[in-house]
Amino acid sequence: MNVYDGWRIAAMLTHHGLTQTDNIPDADIIILNTCAVRAKATDKVFSALGRIRRAKKPTALFGIVGCVAREAGSDAFRRIPDLNFVLGPQSYHKLPQILENPDARLLNIDLGGLEKFDQLPQMEKSPRVAYIPIQEGCNHCCTYCIVPYTRGREISRSFESVMAETLHASKSGALEICFLGQNVNGYKYTDENGKTYRLSDLIRETAKMPEIMRIRFTSSYPTEMTDDLIEMFATEPKLLPFLNMPIQSGSQSVLTRMNRPYSLELYCDIVRKLKQARPDLQISSDFIVGFPGETDSDFEQTMKIAQQIKYINSYSFKYSPRPHTAAALMPDQIPENVKADRLARLDAYLNEVQRDFNTSCIDKTFECLLEGPDKTGNHLIYRTPFMQQCIVPATPDAPALAQIEITAANKASLRGKIVSK
Ligand code: 5AD
Ligand code: SF4
Repeated sequence: MNVYDGWRIAAMLTHHGLTQTDNIPDADIIILNTCAVRAKATDKVFSALGRIRRAKKPTALFGIVGCVAREAGSDAFRRIPDLNFVLGPQSYHKLPQILENPDARLLNIDLGGLEKFDQLPQMEKSPRVAYIPIQEGCNHCCTYCIVPYTRGREISRSFESVMAETLHASKSGALEICFLGQNVNGYKYTDENGKTYRLSDLIRETAKMPEIMRIRFTSSYPTEMTDDLIEMFATEPKLLPFLNMPIQSGSQSVLTRMNRPYSLELYCDIVRKLKQARPDLQISSDFIVGFPGETDSDFEQTMKIAQQIKYINSYSFKYSPRPHTAAALMPDQIPENVKADRLARLDAYLNEVQRDFNTSCIDKTFECLLEGPDKTGNHLIYRTPFMQQCIVPATPDAPALAQIEITAANKASLRGKIVSK
């Protein structure tokens, strides 16, 4: 979501005649696009602002957009008095106002809903993988999560506006579409005639576009995985066989206190149905360890579910208390060293599974999408259908989509050779 917001901001400022630079002393405007989901990310923002302030030209404007802006609000100006703008995740389309009136402080942390999508200029050229947000906000209200506060209640974009953006992306360079939402599979839009559209409708319509070769979506909430969507994995070959469906914890009592009221049986049943629809499907998860009150036995149950599902690629985090959330006020906050030990054990196991899966890919051939050259320029990085990085020797005429035979694997990536276009 943040990558997408960054692209839209860059496109908007390009539209206003600016060009991009990575060199802070050259810049006339410096924008930090921020994430507030864990405290560590938020803390980094203010130290980075201090560094930017010292390195920038005296006349350059600087400020923050995104979730930390929404959380900090006017307090950000108190902490950094010469800051020029603070714009929340749903009001960054107002950024050009600071160019027109550089002497005023610009503060807007309103939850404008979908307004920004109507106001942002179209991107001229699409990246090969086009991220398309299909909703804003989230209604799930997990007790640890700041997102319902920073991005507000869940609203689905209209079917027409999502499809218009997708069509434009397909006509301007996109080969892969990734639908985005905090609760992406909960997408639900009813038009003026009373017709309701779901994520499965977006996928079906997108698959008809000849330029689009791959479709995926992230992030899914387990109980929103409806049968029409599961069916898409059986019927739509352009839909990649890879799904991020966070479980967060393997303990039923922790899930209840997280306000994620699904049973582990139901979760496993959904996984079973998905694999029935698409036998090669692989799943990734997010995990939080050290949620308030998590006992050793709760944590063992998280290890157990990880062993059962065998997620091929996961993100695991130490629980981080966040403002505006219920869990931050819960008793039995877990000491940092216990969180760190649990995270290390879980990560070690997840890495092992990832390495085993990568190794199992050796000698297989996959259709992979070119991401770009590596840092040295001697290699190209492709993505497999399971989102693994696959490194091949650089050739000048390497196709954007290639059949690649996997020749070697480690925990983080694969190596391969192009066998045909
Ligand atoms: N502490 C730790 N991890 C969190 N996440 C969300 N809120 C918190 C928090 N307070 C994680 C969840 C979510 C991912 C985007 O970030 O695992 O799926
Ligand atoms: Fe946060 Fe995701 Fe839960 Fe929504 S579903 S509250 S975004 S963790």
